[in-house]
Amino acid sequence: MGSTLAVGFSRAVEPDCLFAAGRSAASVARVTETVPSITIVPLAELADRATLIVLCVRNADLPVVLGDIRPGLTDQHVLITINNGLPLRALAATVPGPVAKLIPSVGNEIGVGATLLTPGPGLGERAVDELVTLLRRFSRPFLITEGQGRAATDLASCGPALLASAARSMVRAQLERGTQLPPDLAEQLVTQSLIAASQLLAEGACLDEIIDRVAVPGGNTAAAVEASRDDLTAAWRAAFQATASNEGGKPLPSL
Ligand SMILES: NC(=O)c1ccc[n+]([C@@H]2O[C@H](COP(=O)([O-])OP(=O)(O)OC[C@H]3O[C@@H](n4cnc5c(N)ncnc54)[C@H](OP(=O)(O)O)[C@@H]3O)[C@@H](O)[C@H]2O)c1
Repeated sequence: MGSTLAVGFSRAVEPDCLFAAGRSAASVARVTETVPSITIVPLAELADRATLIVLCVRNADLPVVLGDIRPGLTDQHVLITINNGLPLRALAATVPGPVAKLIPSVGNEIGVGATLLTPGPGLGERAVDELVTLLRRFSRPFLITEGQGRAATDLASCGPALLASAARSMVRAQLERGTQLPPDLAEQLVTQSLIAASQLLAEGACLDEIIDRVAVPGGNTAAAVEASRDDLTAAWRAAFQATASNEGGKPLPSL
């Protein structure tokens, strides 16, 4: 997700304002390949270069990363975590400045998709407005509470992968019926359906309008919608239970 945000922020700020730090040569190379204008600095120097710092590491790596950057932090530095499972009060207790949570979405790389912003302790109204303005340059920002984080992340950040996976299931189910479609043609067709639905939504249609326009009463699509609704709901229920269990099962880092 670090690369996604680096690309996103490269659409939002001047190149000389964008810095990144990495652990391995491979991860640094990946970022510079994706955002050639970014300046790579040692982790310990990040706080000297920027006042907005986004920690794009897993919870388990946070103590080491924080240990490296903490000596340079002041109350002017805004620290942002992208880890939904990390309580903001825990992060706030270990740094001198304001904190926030930011959940990106893969579409941010191309200037679309949601970003979920949760202001934490110390982040005032003006700073929130400034952050939202920044995020708007590469995403559709939503302000959410920490309690809304898991559900919102499921829909907005996991969402593109879950929808692609659902489309993959549509192809599989069709192929399993012994259809005469070759797999690559089936995938192209479902891809066009996703693009069509996305663009209709982008132009202002809502989900129910798209369903109603295609699924006319008594027609084939209406029969398909009716036949699949309960099992789809059950499948999503299981999916969201899985994200909640996975997140809840991971130990919180000791910062
Ligand atoms: N994947 C998503 O779509 C998504 C969306 C929202 C939030 N998140 C959350 O974001 C967090 C990161 O997820 P991810 O998918 O981006 O993980 P990832 O692909 O494993 O990336 C984590 C990065 O952190 C770097 N890192 C670890 N320790 C470091 C250190 N001491 N100094 C510098 N860099 C260090 C790693 O470097 P190396 O390459 O050298 O290992 C790696 O590049 C997770 O907690 C996840 O839950 C993910």
